[in-house]
Amino acid sequence: MVGSLVATAFWAMLPAYVPNNAAVLAGGGRPIDGGREWRGARVLGDGKTWRGTAVGTAAGVALALLLNAIVGPAGAAIGVELPAFDLRAAVALAFGAMCGDIGASFLKRRSGRERGAAFPGLDQLDFVVGALVAVFLVAPGWATAVFTLPVLAVVLVMTPVLHVGTNVIAYAIGVKNEPW
Ligand code: CTP
Ligand code: MG
Repeated sequence: MVGSLVATAFWAMLPAYVPNNAAVLAGGGRPIDGGREWRGARVLGDGKTWRGTAVGTAAGVALALLLNAIVGPAGAAIGVELPAFDLRAAVALAFGAMCGDIGASFLKRRSGRERGAAFPGLDQLDFVVGALVAVFLVAPGWATAVFTLPVLAVVLVMTPVLHVGTNVIAYAIGVKNEPW
């Protein structure tokens, strides 16, 4: 029961988990805010780039399509009925995750935090909130069928744990500048 909730939550959120990690690998190039400042600090900062956002979103959508191709056998192998992704849901999860992260950088700059500074809580949940809000807006039927209240509860508990874990690994292998 709990196992199938965790499997469903993880599967359904994968297209939202991958974009941030892909952006870390793909980052660089022109910042979205073009270097502009607002109220004495960068609007977003150099850590939010067009390339990172585009590659991150594309990676999330590509992963969703890949998962669709294996949803039958994957579900059968673990004995859980896993959801396939609507294209609209896939785009919303991936792009919503990137937008949540961008929104968090906006808030970080407003609160005087430099690029890369930690903002505990926000760092771990910004992309989840962005992905969920986007998918419920863009693909409400799909979202309500997949993200039932128990699944949502698992997502909110599981995501910060996974996020901390992957970022520590990314830092340890030298692809990320900070372990958060
Ligand atoms: N990145 C990007 N575009 C995005 C998100 C991330 O290019 N939309 C890349 C940047 O190279 C960034 C790295 O991924 O430095 C790590 O992402 P993140 O931790 O979100 O950015 P920070 O550099 O820590 O900046 P901030 O303080 O604004 O979060
Ligand atoms: Mg950061």
